[in-house]
Amino acid sequence: MTKKWTIGIFIVIVIGIFAVPFLVNAGQPERDPEVSYDTPQINAMEVKQCIEPTEYMKESHMVLLDEWRNSVVRDGNYEYRSQSGQIYEMSLDETCLGCHSNQADFCDKCHEYSSVELYCWQCHGNVDTENPEATIITDDDVLFTEKA
Ligand code: HEC
Ligand code: HEC
Ligand code: HEC
Repeated sequence: MTKKWTIGIFIVIVIGIFAVPFLVNAGQPERDPEVSYDTPQINAMEVKQCIEPTEYMKESHMVLLDEWRNSVVRDGNYEYRSQSGQIYEMSLDETCLGCHSNQADFCDKCHEYSSVELYCWQCHGNVDTENPEATIITDDDVLFTEKA
C-alpha cells in the first residue's frame, strides 16, 4: 500500500513539473509583446487601423518597407496605394513613424522581444530625446528634405 502511494505521489509531481511551462504561458500573447498605440495620430483616428490589414503588417512590414525603399530610391515614386485605395507617402519617417511616433514602445519593443536589431535607425527614426545628437536625420539632411 505505501509503495503504491509513493508511486502515485511521484506521478502527480512529475505531471505537475511538466505542466508548469503551460501554466506560465497561459493567458499570455502567442508571441508578440504588448505594444503601445498611444500616439497623438492614432488616438485621433476614428477607425484605428494600419495602412494594410494588421495581420499582413505583422507578417510583412519588413517586405513592405523594402519595396517602399526600392520604389523611392530607384524610381523616385513616393506614392503608395493601399489595398483599400488610400494613398500614402512612402516614407518610414513621415508615414510609419508619423502614426507610430512612439518608436521605442512600438517598433523597438517588438524587435527587442524578437532579438531583431534594426540598422535603419542609424539614418531613419525618431528624435532620441535623451541623446538628440544620435538623431542623424535633420533639416540639413538634403536627402530627406529635397522632395518638400
Ligand atoms: C546609411 C543611411 C540609411 C540606412 C542605414 C537606411 N536608410 Fe533608408 N534611406 C536612406 C536615404 C538617404 C533614403 C532616401 C531618402 C529620400 O530620397 O527621400 C532612404 C529611403 C528609404 C525609404 C523611402 C523614403 C523614406 O524616407 O522613408 C524607406 C522606406 C527606407 N529608406 C527604409 C529603410 C529601412 C527599412 C532601413 C533598414 C532596413 C533603411 N532604410 C536603412 C538612408 C538610409
Ligand atoms: C495612419 C496611421 C498608421 C500608419 C501610417 C501606419 N500604421 Fe501601423 N498601425 C496603425 C494602427 C492603428 C495599428 C493597430 C491596428 C489594429 O489594432 O488592428 C497598426 C498596426 C501595425 C502593426 C501590427 C502590430 C501588432 O500588434 O502586431 C505593425 C507591425 C505596423 N503597424 C507597422 C507599421 C509600419 C511599418 C508602417 C509604415 C510602413 C505603419 N505601421 C504605418 C496605424 C498606422
Ligand atoms: C508585432 C511586432 C513588431 C512590431 C510592432 C514591429 N516589428 Fe519590425 N519586425 C518584427 C519581427 C518579428 C521581425 C523579424 C522578422 C524576420 O526576421 O522574419 C521584424 C523585422 C523588421 C525589419 C527587417 C529587419 C531586418 O534586418 O531584416 C524591419 C525593417 C522592421 N521590422 C521595421 C519595423 C518598423 C519601422 C516598425 C515600427 C513602425 C516595426 N518594424 C514594428 C516584429 C515587429
